[in-house]
Amino acid sequence: MAIQKTHKGKTKPRSPTLILTVSIATITLLYIASPLFSPNGFSFSTSINSKNSVYSKNNNRRTHNGPHKYLYWGNRIDCPGKHCDTCAGLGHQESSLRCALEEAMFLQRTFVMPSRMCINPIHNNKGIFHRPNSTSEERWADSSCATDSLYDVDLISDTVPVILDNSEMWHHVLATSMKLGSRGVAHVEGVSKTDLKEKSLYSNILLINRTASPLSWFAECKDRKNHSSILLPYSFLPSMAAEKLRRAAEQIKRRLGDYDAMHVRRGDVLKTRKDRFGVQRSLHPHLDRDTRPEFILCRIAKWVPPGRTLFIASNERTPGYFSPLAARYKLAYSSNYSSILDPLIENNYELFMIERLIMTGANTFIKTMKQDDTDLSLSDDPKKNPKKWEIPVYTRDNEEC
Ligand SMILES: *[C@@H]1O[C@H](CO)[C@@H](O)[C@H](O)[C@H]1NC(C)=O
Ligand SMILES: *[C@@H]1O[C@H](CO)[C@@H](O)[C@H](O)[C@H]1NC(C)=O
Ligand SMILES: *[C@@H]1O[C@H](CO)[C@@H](O)[C@H](O)[C@H]1NC(C)=O
Ligand SMILES: *[C@@H]1O[C@H](CO)[C@@H](O)[C@H](O)[C@H]1NC(C)=O
Repeated sequence: MAIQKTHKGKTKPRSPTLILTVSIATITLLYIASPLFSPNGFSFSTSINSKNSVYSKNNNRRTHNGPHKYLYWGNRIDCPGKHCDTCAGLGHQESSLRCALEEAMFLQRTFVMPSRMCINPIHNNKGIFHRPNSTSEERWADSSCATDSLYDVDLISDTVPVILDNSEMWHHVLATSMKLGSRGVAHVEGVSKTDLKEKSLYSNILLINRTASPLSWFAECKDRKNHSSILLPYSFLPSMAAEKLRRAAEQIKRRLGDYDAMHVRRGDVLKTRKDRFGVQRSLHPHLDRDTRPEFILCRIAKWVPPGRTLFIASNERTPGYFSPLAARYKLAYSSNYSSILDPLIENNYELFMIERLIMTGANTFIKTMKQDDTDLSLSDDPKKNPKKWEIPVYTRDNEEC
């Protein structure tokens, strides 16, 4: 099996390729499945050709040369136990999704991806409507969005074959696994991925239904510190943004020209709490200070020369908050491009994905907090804090500026 590592960025000629790949898929499927299926059993080609199925609209436009055995982790990315009706931010959900995709790569299986993703209400200001007395299930549905509105499923499939769990293909897989009985599906919990790969008890089964951690999928990726087991970089999912989002980012990047960028996280990360003496404490004691305009100006002077275009992505909502920076830079925000974004954006996750692509394309990019040693950052506070609540600091450490 060949897994393509890179996307060539070419436009995809659909129809001739489709016919070809349909037959390849059918052949591959029959080849892999021949001990399991009768020769005139089912074929997946019908689902690929069905034009009027709502499910096939955005899925399986292109089949992949990948394996036709499946890995399923459930229909929600992270369902944090009793907090199932809320969810983590996009970054956490991406860590989880990446963990599952890496396992699928390792097992050489097609990953069955949840067709909807939860949107945390604090990351959404596009007015989520909550029905009164709704069940947790309904609230979740209200505050979720279609996975393929955020990610390009076809593009992901170039690296890791995926199908969505509302696709015709998935329904075929379920129906087939039922017919096959014990050889069709294995429900597993707490089995190592090496065993899933090597033990014939699992390796020959059409569908592995794996019970992921109910707290967060990424808890399954404990070996992420082991660099040789990392198959997908952090940058993988951000670069897999849905086509409309990538296109919008390209348009904005063209308008920005030669630019630098800065991500200024304030809002939720500035949260303080009072200790038992009533003293405010914070997990990032310098962050509020370091993300104030006068401190930013001082900090970035050595990285961003005067006169540069500086794109700012921030969750700071105070109007004109960054204006003092305009004395030295030409400032740009996503709000400068509302003519491109307003007709397109349905929630803040989409906006964030576009902003992230813009930041990635910057000449110099400054993060809020350091993640890697080579990162430029506004604050020296570590991103992963040791859960130590400290008294916030607002004074200067030195007289540099
Ligand atoms: C919602 O629940 C409250 C109390 O449980 C009840 O009084 C009210 O009639 C309910 N409303 C609807 C629309 O069901
Ligand atoms: C997968 O396993 C879980 C837990 O055992 C079960 O609730 C669920 O229905 C299974 N899903 C499928 C598609 O087999
Ligand atoms: C690291 O990952 C590789 C590849 O998955 C594995 O062979 C190796 O045993 C792992 N090392 C440790 C220390 O877990
Ligand atoms: C963005 O909009 C602000 C006003 O909201 C303006 O001052 C600034 O020059 C604009 N930036 C660009 C790059 O057009």
